[in-house]
Formats: sequence, structure tokens, C-alpha cells
Amino acid sequence: MHVVHTVAELREKVMAWKGQGLSMALIPTMGNLHAGHLRLVETGLRRADRTVVSIFVNPIQFGPGEDFARYPRTLEADGRQLARMGTDLIFAPSESDMYPHGREATTKVAVPDLSDILCGVARPGHFRGVATVVVKLLNLVQPDIAVFGEKDFQQLVIIRRVVEDLNMAVDIIGIPTVREPDGLALSSRNRYLSPGERAVAPALYRTLKAVAERVQAGGPDPATYEAEAMEALRRVGFDPEYVAIRRADDLTRPASLEPPLVVLAAARLGQARLIDNLCIR
Ligand code: PAF
Repeated sequence: MHVVHTVAELREKVMAWKGQGLSMALIPTMGNLHAGHLRLVETGLRRADRTVVSIFVNPIQFGPGEDFARYPRTLEADGRQLARMGTDLIFAPSESDMYPHGREATTKVAVPDLSDILCGVARPGHFRGVATVVVKLLNLVQPDIAVFGEKDFQQLVIIRRVVEDLNMAVDIIGIPTVREPDGLALSSRNRYLSPGERAVAPALYRTLKAVAERVQAGGPDPATYEAEAMEALRRVGFDPEYVAIRRADDLTRPASLEPPLVVLAAARLGQARLIDNLCIR
């Protein structure tokens, strides 16, 4: 496995593979890899000749007061896991390599509307930062496929939109969320939960399941389900930002409760901000 830290080294390696006619998969990550990430890597390894994993805690997708400084950085342990799996290359650039003109001055990729709803309300600028770094990584690696988790559902919808709008020749693959046995979605941010909060956290997924079951059973309007779910989360100790039933393809409010839909939620629990979603297909 190769580990490269600069754009120049990355380009040299991927150009050589392209020259040999090999197909490539990119798995963009911020490191601190867990079983959810490894599922994405497995998909890359299965579907392409060469798999590149990027590890970069992208400063421009964090807002002021968010957890950029304390976000776990575990490159050595990540590298060991990826090497064991047979990953071909890790790209772990420095900030100055990714943003040579600085965070503020760098060109940004904005996706109007989709970026301003749901998580975009509490995290203004977050999806612009995500879209920018993902476009840069796709341009650098020029993979045939790029693999993302459905756990960050809004992110996945936005990336698909960027790729479509900018006519980028890459297949975006979404992979279902990996969960703990009690239903909690795996996330690097689960480490911010105290033992007491960890015991409460699976209620987020249970609440989404209850909403999905009510949608499938039919009944009153989605706004009622959303409001009741928010109340259910408050009762067990969450501070919910939103629970929303949306169309799965473009996150608009559904005119009818016809699938494919997705129920999405974001809620704070102590120091952690948890997000989760459940597709109704
Ligand atoms: O999902 C993530 O880990 C990040 O948002 C991503 C896609 C790697 C961009 O920094």
C-alpha cells in the first residue's frame, strides 16, 4: 500500500494506473475509520482494479465552534486497517496542499437550495465545504466510481447533484448505514457520548423506524409525524434539530406519501450532534 501526502505524488500514481488501463475507486473520508467506512472500502476493492482512500479532516466544512480541532485524527491506525484490507493507496494531504490559496480564498462549489435545508440550517456553509473538497478529490483521482455512506444522506444527494450539474464522469455509489446491534448508526462522533448518553442514543433510530412505520400505514399528514417524533426525542433527553419526511431523490417535501421517501433526523445529545435516516423504498 502506498501512502502519499502531496497532490504531485497522488497524480503520478493515478496517472500510471490510468496509463495501464486500470479502473479506480475513490473513498473520501476524514479518517478515524470504523466498520461503516470499511464497508465503503470493501465496495471499492470489489468493484475496481485500484482503490484510493483519502483521509483529510476538511477544515472548510466545519463551522465556527464546531469540532474541527478535536475531530479524531488516527492516521496510523487507519493505515493499518486499510493495509490489511488490501487498499492500494492512501492520500492524506496537508491543508496547504489542498488549499494553497488559503481556506477563505479558495474557489468554492455551491449547491443552492439543497445545501440550505435540513442539516444546512444549523450548519451554514457545511455542504459548500463538502462539495468543494469532494470535487477536488474527484478531479485529482479521476476515479470510475466514488463510494459514500447513506448515513450522510443529504451529503450523498448533494454529491450526486454536483456530479450531474458539473458533468463529471464518475459513478457515485451509496452504501447502506452500518449500525451497532442496538441500532445506533456508526459514526466517529459517537465517541463524544457519555455512557449514559450512549444508552439513550439508539432512540434516534427507533424514532425514525416508528415514523417510517406510520408513513407506511398511512394516516394523518407528515407534519404530525414529524412533530410527534421531535417530541418523542425530547422526552428521552435529545435536543432535536429536525425530523423530516422527504422525497429520497431530491429531499423535497413529498406531495403524497408515495415511496421512495426518506425520514431524516438530526439531534443533539450532550456534546454530540447525531444524524440518521431511514429510507422507505
Ligand atoms: O463524509 C465525510 O467523511 C466527509 O464529509 C467527506 C465526504 C470525506 C468530505 O470531507
